Amino acid sequence: MVDPKEITVIVSNHAEMDHTGCLVDVIDLVKPDKVYASVKGVEALDRHFGLGSRLTAVRDGETIGLESVPMTFIETRMLHWPDSMVSWLPGDGLLFSQDAFGMHLATYERFADQIDIDILREEAGKYYANILLPYSTLIRAPSKSSEKRGNTHYHRSDHGPIWRTPDDIGTIMGWYGEWSAQKPGPTVLIVYDTMWQSTALMARAIADGAFSAGVGVRVLPLTAAHRSDVATELLGAERSWSAVPLSTMGFFLGLPTP
Ligand code: FEO
Repeated sequence: MVDPKEITVIVSNHAEMDHTGCLVDVIDLVKPDKVYASVKGVEALDRHFGLGSRLTAVRDGETIGLESVPMTFIETRMLHWPDSMVSWLPGDGLLFSQDAFGMHLATYERFADQIDIDILREEAGKYYANILLPYSTLIRAPSKSSEKRGNTHYHRSDHGPIWRTPDDIGTIMGWYGEWSAQKPGPTVLIVYDTMWQSTALMARAIADGAFSAGVGVRVLPLTAAHRSDVATELLGAERSWSAVPLSTMGFFLGLPTP
């Protein structure tokens, strides 16, 4: 536990409100000497909360000294907001990765190695699919720079457990490499909605055809599947199939639509 009066510096790695909703109150309570954010972060926090005059902008690659402990800021623009950055304490090998490597998972366990690996992959995958998937081409660059930094002993995401062992950090980095590669998966994903069940008939016909050809199939009716689960299934899906609108298929098959 830290007495708030002992806090002299606050770093805002990301301006989205799940990280900054109480920032004004915290600044008023703690009265820090400095509040750091990226250049875009200062803009965003000023627009959201009128905080501009109380913030100090830091540049990509800039290092500050926190009572002789160096901290380096690395911009990760559009991962997943323009202001996003991570903070790196080389002395402790500690990366504050904000949204990256996170998940929407609240547990009593603090560290990833205390949680079942299948749960971690499912939750980290769902988070990646729903938050970061559109930016996959950008993911690979920060991953490489992170590897170059080396000596990372902890990945401290703002969401979910802390990754603290070389094996665990290798695991989450490997998953991000796999998901960001955007390679088509082995499964045909069929997502549909229907009012009179004719589209459901088409979905089942396509699923039967794919399955009988030896291909794995996932059929998700939007009336039953949450959109975040649909996005997660995209990680393992064959892209070309998932892109075909069923109403279009129905037109070519002579079936009534929708
Ligand atoms: Fe982009 Fe955790 O908010």
